[in-house]
Amino acid sequence: MARKLIKYNLMIPGPTPIPTRVLAAMNHDMIGHRGPLFSAVMKEVMEGLRWAYETKNEIFIYPSSGTGGMEVAVVNTLSPGDKVIVLNIGNFGARFVKICKAYGVDVNDVKFERGKAADPKVLEAELKKGPVKAVLFQQNETSTGVLNDVETLAKTVRKNQPDALIIVDAVSGMMAAPLKTDEWDLDVVVSGSQKAFMVPPGIAAVSISARAWKANAVAKCPRHYWDWALMKEEAPKGHTYTTPAESLIFGMREGIKMLQEEGRENVFARHKFNRDLLRTAAKALGLKLLADDSHASPAVTAICPPEGVDGEAVRAAMRDEFNVEVAPGQGELKGKIFRIGHLGYIDSLDIIGAWAAVEVLFKRLGAKTNFGAGVKAAMEML
Ligand SMILES: Cc1ncc(COP(=O)(O)O)c(C=O)c1O
Repeated sequence: MARKLIKYNLMIPGPTPIPTRVLAAMNHDMIGHRGPLFSAVMKEVMEGLRWAYETKNEIFIYPSSGTGGMEVAVVNTLSPGDKVIVLNIGNFGARFVKICKAYGVDVNDVKFERGKAADPKVLEAELKKGPVKAVLFQQNETSTGVLNDVETLAKTVRKNQPDALIIVDAVSGMMAAPLKTDEWDLDVVVSGSQKAFMVPPGIAAVSISARAWKANAVAKCPRHYWDWALMKEEAPKGHTYTTPAESLIFGMREGIKMLQEEGRENVFARHKFNRDLLRTAAKALGLKLLADDSHASPAVTAICPPEGVDGEAVRAAMRDEFNVEVAPGQGELKGKIFRIGHLGYIDSLDIIGAWAAVEVLFKRLGAKTNFGAGVKAAMEML
C-alpha cells in the first residue's frame, strides 16, 4: 500500500505553528471591546508586550500585519522631504525604502550584499555626511536569515546624531533574539503576532519613545487609520480606535504567558540551539549557508542547495512528498536558496525531521552529498 503522510509541518519563518494552548485561548466568545472585560485583557497584553520589548514606553496594538506596523512607524514620525537612512540588507529593508518613498520621504537606501549584516562603519560614514531625521533597519532580516547587531547600530546613531530617530522592524526578531528597547534607546519598535509570539497573523504592535512622540508632534505624512493621535486617548483605557482583532488578542495573552513561563533566556536559548542544530546539519552535508555564523539568524536559515539543484525544486518536493512547508528565496534570491524557519513553536526534532526529508530529496535529485551526514551531525548535537 502507498505510504501516506497526514501531518502538515509548517517550517517557515512565520506564521509559525500555533500551540494548542493558544488555539484554545482564541476559542472565546466575542465581548464588548469598549467594556471592562476586554479592557482588562488588552491591558494584560500591553503589559506582556512591554515585558517582551523590555520597555516602559507606550505600546499601541493594531489589527494589521507587520507591514502595517512598519507604515505606522513611518507615517507617525516623518514628513515628506525628511531625510532618512534605511539600512537595506534584504527584502524587508527594501520594503522600508518603498514605504518611505510612497510618502515622499527622502531615502538614502544603503544597500548591503545579501547575506551580510548592516555594517556600523558604513552607517557611521553615512551619518557623517549630514543630518537625518531617522535611521530605519531590521532587527532580523527574514529574507536572508541575518540578524543585525541592533545595539551597535543604535550606539552608532546616538554617537553621531543623538537626536535621530531609531526605527526598528523587529517583526521576525522579537523574542527570538534579545532586543532591549529602553537600554538601547530605540524609538519605534515594530512586532507582529505570527512570529515568536506563536499567534496567527493579524496583530502589529509598536512601541513609542519620548523622542518619537516629539517627532510625532510635527510629522506631516498623511494618515488616519494609523494615526497615533487617535490611539493616544484609547490605549490607557485598554481600548483601541478601531474594533480590535479580539480573537488574536486572546491568543496574544496566552502566547505571551507561555513565553513568560518558559523564561526569556530559555526562549532565546531555544531559538539559538535550533539554529545551530540546522546549521550543523547543513554544514555536515557540505552546503553553503547565505549568512555567516557571526550574524546567523535564530529565526530562519537560508540554505544554498547543492550544485545543480534548484531551491524551488527542493521546496516543491518538500511539500509534495513530505508535507513539510519551507520558505522560498525572495526577490533576487529566488531559486538560489531555500529557507527553513526555526521560529516560534518549533522544536529540535521538527528540525531533524525536516532535514531528513531534505537529505532524501537531495539524493533523489542526484546531488552528490554524503547521505545521512547532516542528520547524524544533528543527532550528535542532541
Ligand atoms: C522582518 C519582517 N518585517 C516585516 C514583515 C512583514 O510582515 P507582514 O507579512 O505580516 O506584513 C515580515 C514578514 O515576514 C518580516 O519578516
